[in-house]
Parts: sequence; structure tokens; C-alpha cells
Amino acid sequence: MSSNGNASGEVFYPPEHIIRQANQPDYDAIHQAMLDDLAGTWGAIARDEFEWFKPWDKTLDDSEAPFYKWFVGGKVNIVHNALDRHTQTWRRNKVALLWEGEKYEQRSYTYHQLEREVCRFASVLRAMGVNKGDRVTIYMGRIPEIVIAMLACAKIGAVHSVVYGGFSVEALHGRIEDSQSKVAITADGAWLRGNIVPLKEIMDEALQRAPTVQTVIVVKRTGQDIHMEPGRDLWYHDLMNLPIAETCIPTEAVDAEDPLFLLYTSGTTGKPKAILHTHGGYMVGVATTLKWVFDLKEEDTWWCAADPGWITGHSYIVYGPLLLGATSVMYEGAPNHPFPDRWWDVVERHGVTVLYTAPTAIRGLMRFGDAWPNRHDLSSLRLLGSVGEPINPEAWKWYYRVIGKEQCPIMDTWWQTETGGFMITPLPSTPLKPGSATRPFPGVVVDVLDEDGSPVGPNEEGYLVIKTPWPAMLRTVYGDPDRYVEQYWSRFPGMYMTGDSARRDEDGYIWVIGRVDDVIKVSGYRLGTAEIESALVSHPSVAEAAVIGVPDEVRGSVIQAYCILVAGMEPTQRLVEILRDHVAHEVGPIAKPASIEFVDALPKTRSGKIMRRVLKARALGQDEGDLSTLEQ
Ligand code: PRX
Repeated sequence: MSSNGNASGEVFYPPEHIIRQANQPDYDAIHQAMLDDLAGTWGAIARDEFEWFKPWDKTLDDSEAPFYKWFVGGKVNIVHNALDRHTQTWRRNKVALLWEGEKYEQRSYTYHQLEREVCRFASVLRAMGVNKGDRVTIYMGRIPEIVIAMLACAKIGAVHSVVYGGFSVEALHGRIEDSQSKVAITADGAWLRGNIVPLKEIMDEALQRAPTVQTVIVVKRTGQDIHMEPGRDLWYHDLMNLPIAETCIPTEAVDAEDPLFLLYTSGTTGKPKAILHTHGGYMVGVATTLKWVFDLKEEDTWWCAADPGWITGHSYIVYGPLLLGATSVMYEGAPNHPFPDRWWDVVERHGVTVLYTAPTAIRGLMRFGDAWPNRHDLSSLRLLGSVGEPINPEAWKWYYRVIGKEQCPIMDTWWQTETGGFMITPLPSTPLKPGSATRPFPGVVVDVLDEDGSPVGPNEEGYLVIKTPWPAMLRTVYGDPDRYVEQYWSRFPGMYMTGDSARRDEDGYIWVIGRVDDVIKVSGYRLGTAEIESALVSHPSVAEAAVIGVPDEVRGSVIQAYCILVAGMEPTQRLVEILRDHVAHEVGPIAKPASIEFVDALPKTRSGKIMRRVLKARALGQDEGDLSTLEQ
């Protein structure tokens, strides 16, 4: 293997026993089988590994591409496969969800117990008037009820729209309004580093701006006094104790192509868009990717340390592990609370065998030194994973050496909200180069293109595109099919535009560089410039605003904002703090700018578009590039 890929050219080969036990030992053979017959190979997996109420007529329908359809005519429900079928086997009494609260409380649900809770809450939702196809907004912290709520929606064919608990008023309002949810589910609060995030208060404020919601169901988590709006707000525990909460209701047979969930994400311009995923294809995609990449076995205890409010949590805390009948760990709090070894303590106490997290968390914990992980027995670990942004080789090696003791290959998985599951990723048998997500998942064909759509040479940077459909792909942008076509399929016709730039080395390994659009990754969280800018200009003192991401050692990037103040406003340090808090209040603490600069003008094109590229170059002291379109 050549060595140009990373600076030091190091390649890490997986231990023999890891290769020997792999669920999918032969990458080349299965990749080739998929390339030869994509629909046939996925069809065989879908038939053999899942239960369908009615078989499909056509595995892949590309007649209306890019509106691809999978398993057309099939009847299924992801919840039947994630819960119901396991309760018919010995797995009934196996732990499905193992939860640890920030204050060390523990709760576990066997498949049987989880199925009962989901039935009860599904029948509560029905009694609240939620029908098939209705959208339900879920806004909660990392507690078991979020999983129960998601599965309960899916069970009755309703469409969940989870909003990350770190988002705030305007972000929540926009997502509720766009989805037209009539029912929302939240909690009185969430614990974070010993503090309470006032989820219900934020929900109340968002609902003043979005009156579509008729019912709010509130889980009691933190126990502080909250306002309950008469006629609208109901306690989860009250509803679950009523006779309407039946413990055994049938799972709705839905079409494979029926919507399962919406998940809002930021894109090139404008408001966040709702990515739509479906029951059939998503089910087959997430389970298969998890099974092959992280090699889940019956005896594994899997911990995806993401938040359920993002795609990583949807696919790999909730659906993927349950579809495989695994034990999924969920931890409520911060990695370093109360001490920097909290995560390693969780790994040790629960005997976690596979840990999946983000580079930002690894870098954050690495800062505390080796002594914290070293005081724990981490020998239960077999594989490690990374997601969300490129992992720098230094963090990769620390993770590999200090956490994995050089025995656990690291699966650096590249994918997106839109892709539903892993797209570029090693399998356990893949030789690894720190910083590269290695090769496409079997059946996925990627390319790296120049401006004109021609493939670039080895190690040259270009646009990362995907050339084959895959089962867990997004189906559309909810309510805006034109935007789906325009944003993903128009730049290079017939190909899916990822929005990322990448290089491919001479071994065919992909090195993802980062976004080429207006998306900023802060601690691995995906934020759009437009959402933050509109929060800034919603403050009466700001006339215009532009934000960029600038590199940060731990968080990957942080937000830097430029504001033009309305005439007469004083550019004070106090105003900087007010505006930072205002963004946190409107969008969420993760969107809070690290710095705000007051300026008299912003670089714009003649058509009035802000040239963020120029701002970024200036901030980093780099060449400003081609300025021919800049308005002088
Ligand atoms: O830029 C890529 C980056 O995260 C983006 C997708 O963000 P989101 O939809 O929030 O999903 C994150 C979790 C799947 C991508 O366009 N990204 C994700 N994983 C990696 C990555 N960049 C480099 N390496 C990765 N492993």
C-alpha cells in the first residue's frame, strides 16, 4: 500500500481475530456483487434479514429519478423489526436499552419491556388524535422516553420530527411550523453538567410563535416547577397511567415508502430543510451498515455517544441497534461530568464493547491527559468509531493508543443526515490510515469531480459525489421537492452532490476535507450560516450580519460573526455579549458566536450575495482569491 495519503503515511492493519470474526469479511466480493446487481443484492438482504407483512414488487424503482423508491409495494414497519419480532424469540428478556442518567441513575428496558412502553405510548398518541402520516415534534434530552416516543410514532405510522434539545426558541418554532405538528412531546427540563436546560419553557415560547400545536405531552425529568397550559399540556406519566395506555396494540402495516421521520438540517441557503426518510429502505440500510461496519454480535454492548436528536442518534442509538437485537447504551450527560473520566467509567461499568463518538469529544477528553482513561479497565472494547467531521491524525492515534490499547480498529464513518447510514467507511478488515474514512460502503460508488464534472487526479481536491442510489437515502425535502432536486441533483446531473470536498489517494482511499457550502460544523453539529445570521438580524440593533466558521482545536470550528449595526447603535463589548446571548436564545447555545466584530460594510457580490469566502480568508490571513465579482 502506498503512503501518500496522510502526512506520515502510516497504515494500521487490523488484528487477525477481528478479521476472522467479521460479519462481512470480504469487502471486494460483496462490493462487486452489489455493483453487478445492486437491486438483487439489496433485495436478498432485505428478504433474509427482516420480516415484511407483504413482499415488495420492485426492489429499486428509478423511473422517476432522483425520486428513487426502494421495496416498492412492500408492507412493513420498522418497529415490527426493531421490537416486535425480537419479543417472539429468546431476546424478549435481553436488555434493549441501557440508560444512565447524569446523576448516575440507571434504567434498563428489555425488548419485552420496551415493546410494552411503546405500545402504551402509541395508544396514548392515538387517543390524542395522532393518525398515520401526522407529524409529531419531539424535543427532549437524552432520556429513554425520547426513544419510546420515536418508536411509538413509527408504530402507528406517524412521522416523528425530533428537534435536538440543544436548539432553542426560534429553531424549534421554525421546525414545528414547517412540519405542521399538532402534537409535541417534551420534558420539564434536561440535565446538563448539573444545570437544568429549561426545555418546557423554550417550548412554551416557541409555541407562542407556532400555534399549530394543540397538545403538549410533558415528561417529568428534572422536577422543577413549570407552567402547564390548561387544555394543552398533559403529563406523560398521567397519560401512561390511564386505561387508554394499552400494553398490547398491533403495529401498523405501512408501505415501505411511507415516511418514518423528518429531520431538519442546514444546507446551502435559507431555512433548515426537512430531510425525509422512509420505513423500508432506511430500515434495511441502517441495520446492514451497522452490522457490517461495527460487526455487532449478540453479545455486544454498543454505545453510540451521540444525541438522539441528530441523525447519528436516530440511526445508531435507536433504530440500527434495535433492528439487530443488540443492547444500546444511552448516557444522558456531558462526557466530563462530574469528572473527565465519566465516559471511561461508563465503558468500564457497562462493559461496552463498541464505542462510537465524534472527533470533537475525543479531542476534548484527550486534553485531560492519559491518566483519566488509564485508571479504568477498558479491555471490554473491541472496536471504536468516529463520525461528524474529519478526525485529525493526532486525535485518531490517541483514541487508538490510549482508549483502544492498539487492539481496536477505528471505523471512521463518513455520512450525512441525508444518507441515513454510513457511506464511506472501513469494515473491520480494512487497513486504516488515520484521517481517512477509507473506502465506500459496498455498493456505493463515489467520485471526486472538478468544476466541470470531470474526475480529478489522485490526491487532488474536488467535489465529492455519489453515483449510485442506496436504500437509506433521503427521499425528498419534505414539502419542497424542487429544493431536493435543485440542492442535491442539479450541480452534476444524475449524481448526488454531498456538499463536501475530498481527495482520493492512489489506493482509492477517500480523505474528506470539509463542506464547500455554507454549513459550519461546530463540535460536529451541523449549523447553517443563514439560521445564525437571521437570529442576529432579528435583534433590533443589527442591520446586517454574516457568519463564518474558523478553525478551533477542540471544536473543529467556531463561529465568527460580523455585524453592521443600525444607525446610532454603539458598538460596545456589552452589545457583543447581548448579541451572543441572543443567538443562544434563538438558535441554541451551540450556535453562539465565539466572537462578534462590528463592521461598516460586508464584502458582497454585485448581486448582493455576501462573500463569506472573502471574510474567511481575511480572518485567517489568507489570500482572498478571485475578487472579480466583488462589489467595489
Ligand atoms: O461534512 C461531512 C461531515 O458531516 C457532514 C454531515 O453532517 P450531518 O448531516 O450533521 O451528519 C453528521 C453525522 C453523520 C458531512 O457532509 N462528516 C460526517 N462524518 C464525517 C464527516 N467529515 C469527515 N469525516 C467523517 N467521518
